Amino acid sequence: MNVFERYESNVRGYCRTWPVVFDKALNAKQWDVDGNEYIDFFSGAGVLNFGHNNLKIRQAMIDYLESGGVTHSLDMYSRSKREFIERFVNVILKPRGLDYKLQFTGPTGTNVVEAALKLARKVTGRRNVVAFTDGFHGMTLGALACTGNQKFHQAAGVELNNVIRVPFDGYLGDGVDTLEPLRRALQDTSSGITPPAAFILETIQAEGGINVASKEWLQQVQQLAREHGSLLIVDDIQASVGRTGHYFSFENLGIEPDLICMAKGIGGYGTPMGVLLIKPELDVWEPGEHTGTFRGQNLSFVAGAAALDYFENDDFLAEVKRKGAITEERLVEMIERANVDIELRGCGMMHGLDMVTGEKAAAVVASAFEQNLIIPTCGPNGRVVKVMPPLTIEDDVLEEGLARLEKAILSL
Ligand SMILES: Cc1ncc(COP(=O)(O)O)c(C=O)c1O
Repeated sequence: MNVFERYESNVRGYCRTWPVVFDKALNAKQWDVDGNEYIDFFSGAGVLNFGHNNLKIRQAMIDYLESGGVTHSLDMYSRSKREFIERFVNVILKPRGLDYKLQFTGPTGTNVVEAALKLARKVTGRRNVVAFTDGFHGMTLGALACTGNQKFHQAAGVELNNVIRVPFDGYLGDGVDTLEPLRRALQDTSSGITPPAAFILETIQAEGGINVASKEWLQQVQQLAREHGSLLIVDDIQASVGRTGHYFSFENLGIEPDLICMAKGIGGYGTPMGVLLIKPELDVWEPGEHTGTFRGQNLSFVAGAAALDYFENDDFLAEVKRKGAITEERLVEMIERANVDIELRGCGMMHGLDMVTGEKAAAVVASAFEQNLIIPTCGPNGRVVKVMPPLTIEDDVLEEGLARLEKAILSL
């Protein structure tokens, strides 16, 4: 452990909650260097939808490496990129009647968001974007300006601007139309608020505390954007790739975003990839206008393409819905038995237990870790315990993880 404390920057975070040295992992289990076994309800913050070391995906990567396939290619053409694009179009876009172009950015979510913001500003010639309370979009300056969290803002060291902050659905209590003040202001040429380049939102705010927007609200945001010539950007970096029981989080919600941000799970194996999906008529980039050295991650293309096999038919998504329903049922039981107030939110295999205070949530996480369950917090002051196992978790491991979580909650 000393080597980390002595040489790794203070900025390290998650290792402080789970201060062991991990060594091996398989699907929803991890082992530390002393051989202790853990259940993973964290999934690399939504990266490991197909579990750790998914054997099928790994085999595809091994085959590719052994064939001498290129690993790095910037934005040059490569066989693995061609296969990924073809698979993504045929397995994901076409069956859903969607038409988007793919922009591969640097392989982090924040770089995808930067590209989306820049493109929206370029298309509209406007500066401001609307972002929502508790939104989380990344750590680089443009994306950070859209992120709500104050601690992250303070670390920027410069002004973060060109963002109009609007309350997310439910932020002002049930039944309050959070869009009305902005709607009025945009109709009033003396309001001081000019039409924005874009509205950027997560349909389910993940880091913000598992806040689920309603279908009606999302449609109203889209309508407002359309009325004022603004783009709708859905940041689906954490909630897509099957997490909600749909491939995209916005399916069945009656919206069709102009730009869709994807990263995390799309790389399949924990291998990094960032993709911005762009409606074809909005693809006004000049060649090389948004670059990045690591846009051609061929191992990620191979792993990402292999992961698309899970979406060839509806079986996998049906499994996600089934396991999500089991999870929800068990979480409801726990809340009934608990001695404290807890609010459950979420859908699919993405749930949050709002413990009201950060202290209580931290106590649950610590007690879970004593039982070798890795589970994180999210939301304001970390007050929400976030339940996000790999989508491929086995039923018995899911049950065991939930049993450990219940014990942690009942110990409060
Ligand atoms: C919705 C959303 N957008 C953007 C990001 C930033 O992604 P990255 O950390 O890969 O830059 C995250 C990360 O948690 C996220 O959840």
